[in-house]
Amino acid sequence: MYLKFDYNNMMQEAIGKEGILPKEFDKNAAMIEAARKTVLDNRGKGWQEWCDLPFAPESEIDELISYCGAIGKKAESFVILGIGGSALGPLSVASALLHLHHNELPKEKRNAPKLYVEDNVDPERMASLLDVLDLKTAYFNVITKSGETSETLSQFLILYSALKKELGEEEAKKHIIVTTTIGKGTLYNVAQAEGFKIYGVGKGVGGRFSVLSPVGLVAFAALGLDVKAMLKGAAEAAKSAEERDVKKNPALLTAFLQVKAMENGKNISVLMPYADSLKFMADFYCQLWAESLGKAENLNGKTVHVGQTPAKALGVTDQHSQVQLYTEGPFDKVVTFLAVEDFRTTVVISDDKTVNACDFLKGHTLNELINAERKATEFALKKANRMNFTIYLPSVNEKTVGELLMYFMYQTAFAGAMLNIDTFNQPGVEEGKKATFAMLGRSGYEAKLEEVNAAVHKKDYII
Ligand code: PA5
Repeated sequence: MYLKFDYNNMMQEAIGKEGILPKEFDKNAAMIEAARKTVLDNRGKGWQEWCDLPFAPESEIDELISYCGAIGKKAESFVILGIGGSALGPLSVASALLHLHHNELPKEKRNAPKLYVEDNVDPERMASLLDVLDLKTAYFNVITKSGETSETLSQFLILYSALKKELGEEEAKKHIIVTTTIGKGTLYNVAQAEGFKIYGVGKGVGGRFSVLSPVGLVAFAALGLDVKAMLKGAAEAAKSAEERDVKKNPALLTAFLQVKAMENGKNISVLMPYADSLKFMADFYCQLWAESLGKAENLNGKTVHVGQTPAKALGVTDQHSQVQLYTEGPFDKVVTFLAVEDFRTTVVISDDKTVNACDFLKGHTLNELINAERKATEFALKKANRMNFTIYLPSVNEKTVGELLMYFMYQTAFAGAMLNIDTFNQPGVEEGKKATFAMLGRSGYEAKLEEVNAAVHKKDYII
């Protein structure tokens, strides 16, 4: 295990009655073990194929690294077209592991194509993308597990047409890699007909659990990241998720602490990385936690309306915007800090003798400052009796990021099992997708259109 978990400030010893008593572990031992067993017994089955991703056959990984690595060498830009689970995994990992101003670096320093993750259908964003791309050297990874998502299909149609116009049909085809479910869905059929390179997402790998499948790996290989090290890190988290002793199993432990916190009215879970490189990890976490745990019914069909609202914050930036609320507002939050022990660079605050002020800062490093500020926020939260815990990454690299991703996925699965809900469906999202199909006139959705029109076309209460 590369990561370290400090949950002192979740406990009553640290934060008084807002915290959890140690005896809760014994009191809930049967429930914790049942959740562990439910998740572990289903590894590789149903919607839990994601558990097997760190152990994918080496030959598959080698082929992917070789094909996508070669594309990455040719490409000036690598563009991901996808949304939700088909975008946030690649975005969070690439942001963690690439230079923080990757796209602005000169080519010889970048050593990889520029990366664009296009996860919206804002027309201005698409027009802006087309303004900066040189299509001759741009390669596209169209990612949609279902193969049906309107946003991704519309982006694909626009960019494939543009590519054909610029390069001609035969060459344009070579600039597209499709990641989708093999044998199913509109995109798969189109990809087959057009002859695009296709990578499959396992049937039992849901969008938000797919970052370690070709959904993420295609881009990581094209960007020259160490895919095998990432899977090794993920395997570490899979191993610690097996631990029967909850105190040695970070995913199980923190799932339990969060579920207990929810029972005590802490319905907001803030993820606050103290590192710009991990900023988008909070986006990944927010989707995973929200879409997996926000459910109307439990597995017995009882209406429960559970879920803990995830929120993202960035240290230290949000100390100056949100931390006031976290320390003095309602007792409704758990804050998870991501701490980096060793940054990839050290920046010294200059000891400028001509400036006769700020002596307390001079000679220190930004590394010291950011970590002091994290500890200071942790202290302020503890003093105000607010639940918080810290995940330490020794440094940000492929192994630690792989472990973090897999930890988050197991934590979510354990929490879902403790809440007795279906962690892996998303009926609320599907409803919106169907309504979009209906409003755009897709055949087969006529009844849905009537339902949507009846619900949204109201004259009252509009000014
Ligand atoms: O986690 C999920 O299942 C969703 O967020 C999907 O990833 C998102 O809706 C995109 O779906 P698809 O990959 O089918 O285009």
